[in-house]
Amino acid sequence: MKPSEAKKEIEALSTQIEEHNDRYYVQNKPSISDAEYDRLLKRLMALEEEFPQFKLPTSATQRVGAKVEGNLPTVTHRLKMLSLDNTYSIDEIKLWYERVVKGLSPHAGDFLRSSPHAGDSLLVKGQQISLTAEPKIDGVSCALTYKEGQLVLGATRGDGSVGEDVTHNVKTIRSVPLKLKGKGHPQQLEVRGEVYMDKEDFARLNRQRQEQGEELFVNPRNAASGSLKLLDSRLTVSRRLRFFVHSFGILEGKNHPESQWEFLQQCQTYGFAVNPFSLLCKNLDEVIRFCHQMQQKRQELLYDVDGIVIKVNNLAQQQQLGATMKSPRWAVAFKFPAYQATTLVKEITVQVGRTGVVTPVAEFQPVFCGGVTISRATLHNFDEIKRLNINSGDRVLIERAGDVI
Ligand code: IVH
Repeated sequence: MKPSEAKKEIEALSTQIEEHNDRYYVQNKPSISDAEYDRLLKRLMALEEEFPQFKLPTSATQRVGAKVEGNLPTVTHRLKMLSLDNTYSIDEIKLWYERVVKGLSPHAGDFLRSSPHAGDSLLVKGQQISLTAEPKIDGVSCALTYKEGQLVLGATRGDGSVGEDVTHNVKTIRSVPLKLKGKGHPQQLEVRGEVYMDKEDFARLNRQRQEQGEELFVNPRNAASGSLKLLDSRLTVSRRLRFFVHSFGILEGKNHPESQWEFLQQCQTYGFAVNPFSLLCKNLDEVIRFCHQMQQKRQELLYDVDGIVIKVNNLAQQQQLGATMKSPRWAVAFKFPAYQATTLVKEITVQVGRTGVVTPVAEFQPVFCGGVTISRATLHNFDEIKRLNINSGDRVLIERAGDVI
């Protein structure tokens, strides 16, 4: 690729991604699927790596997350809220694990060849690194600060450095303890987790909004995000948001855990909800088995899970591995194949069933979605299609709700 071409593409991608960020994070109205967004971002990262001279100071890759909305007070995170590296491939998970092993043993190369230096490193020859595997909840990242056991602040991630103060809304979430249970908790504790909405609550909310002629939310995550940013927390209560704790920022004082697993267990005793499918794994094989199992189970769950987060369990090992500007080296996300894709409506036709029932059908430009190619969809909610005025030639975001027959 010619440098001049790279420069052009970098600029175009940056603008495009920024537009999508704005639609997604500020307007709660995404127009492309996560997989496509990730693809754009990865392309931009690759180009910036190859042509660093063209990297813009305002590049989309400089941000971890979103723009801050103006109307809620802002909060500067004491410790940046990082994002996670993610991949759709098990082979890449294996490569991540190899990097972890290398990172934890300065003489890894040696001890793979059974060198006597092996004993110098943190890892003993052949030792496996224990890992946690946790469902990746498709919600909104949130940091909750407790001082002397009392909830004093709830903040969104925002752009990773500065988020919004949503304490009033967080307090309406029943799975968030206002006061930590038990004794012996740290003087200062900032837990991080996911605010999300159950699929059923999301469907109920959208039904209500449709009846009231209000705009519908695209998915449970956007509904959770919109609800968490409401100014009037009396409205938030009825949204029935939920919270799963998954990590921590600040942890000062007594009873510092030694591992992620111990932290999750402590959180349970403090009164937080920890995802019940979280698993402590002795080795990577167990993690991979879990990834496959959860992918099968995914549809049965009450809430959206878009992958598995894999973490090095030991906190000293996590510290040794450290982080890049964007994400920790001790964790990675295995993402399930996307159920969403964008495509063009070719035409809207009518299908007449055996019993004479007439169902409108949208014919699409075929698009790959969650492992299969989709070229048509029956339109059971035709009123909504009419309301949105969807016609041939329109670009649409489609989401697979079940198996394709
Ligand atoms: S650990 C350094 N664990 O996924 C980030 N994150 O794509 C440590 N997420 O910002 C986060 N489920 O909001 C972690 N079990 C889980 C998670 C999880 C969902 C979110 C989190 C993060 C995003 C990254």
